[in-house]
Amino acid sequence: ISLKNYNTFGIAVNAKRFISINSVYELQQLLKVEKKLFLLSGGSNMLLTRDIDTLVAHIDIKGLSIDTENDKAIYLTVNAGEDWHELVLWCVQNNYGGIENLSLIPGNVGTCPIQNIGAYGVEVKDTITKVEALEIETGKLVSFSNGACNFGYRNSIFKHEVKGKYIITAVSFKLTKNIHQLNTSYGTIETELTSKKIKDPTLKDVSDAVIAIRKSKLPDPKEIGNSGSFFKNPIISKALFLELQKENPSIPNYPISETEIKIPAGWLVEQSGYKGKRFGDAGVHEKQALVLVNYGNATGKEIHALAKKIQASVYSNYQISLEIEVNVML
Ligand code: EPU
Repeated sequence: ISLKNYNTFGIAVNAKRFISINSVYELQQLLKVEKKLFLLSGGSNMLLTRDIDTLVAHIDIKGLSIDTENDKAIYLTVNAGEDWHELVLWCVQNNYGGIENLSLIPGNVGTCPIQNIGAYGVEVKDTITKVEALEIETGKLVSFSNGACNFGYRNSIFKHEVKGKYIITAVSFKLTKNIHQLNTSYGTIETELTSKKIKDPTLKDVSDAVIAIRKSKLPDPKEIGNSGSFFKNPIISKALFLELQKENPSIPNYPISETEIKIPAGWLVEQSGYKGKRFGDAGVHEKQALVLVNYGNATGKEIHALAKKIQASVYSNYQISLEIEVNVML
């Protein structure tokens, strides 16, 4: 079958064999006979580059349960196949706080811990209590505590130490009830709330603001294929930063520590002349240079080639290596 509708980049590669998994039990049964799987979830953070011979397993385990709650907090366990944004909307509607800044991020719940999704000053790691996963080798269900996940900026143990060894089946969260700690300090949220004259925002106000900002900058994958930020924002040494700042006084920067500075990759790509550029059906989004797009029939290889061209150009201009954030199938 064609996987075009199973990846937000809309890349039309074919899978020889495809199975949809609806429960942990089904997955355990499958692992008894087939350990080599190509896992597919929301398909929102991957670039497919060729047809797939191994069995493609679409993790589509649905369901949510409330584990316990008190006046201040609610503990939820959400199965991997639930849509992330729908979970956010459900939480906002029920007045459960903590993930409202992560509105409109494409993808499923099961993949949110892998890259520790983050936006507008919030990272999902701040609400995750544990991650449940099946060990591929043994078929055993194991639980990773928040600490065991080794979360970092767009990073976790699932991208490194245990990569390819587990299949995430559910994620548990602790969210706030009644009293919330809103995070509205990210510049664009503040501006959005002020423009609407909102002084004492609710969870819904914050979520609506994020949705408005994202819609104004980021392409909707249903209309133009994309995977959100294609590159990570690089962290560079203060020494290199000071040198670059001499030539580029307006370079945006976020101090990370005494010696390290984070630079928005979108700025580097834009300054290198790629914003809005199009090469066949592969391109760089016109409103956010960090997002590579598929205008229709681009292949994964074409998108990857464009990414490499951008990396080379940014490196030669700024001596900064941009790291790809999306999982590229090699
Ligand atoms: N910028 C440009 N040109 C561009 C884009 C950005 O100059 O084309 C500069 C602007 O100066 C702006 C700065 O970059 O002040 C920051 O831009 P923005 O607030 O849009 O955020 P970002 O750093 O580009 C990151 C995340 C996004 C997340 C936003 C908001 C990464 C790799 N990306 O982007 O995440 O939504 O912050 O928090 O950290 C994603 O991961 O898919 C994603 C969209």
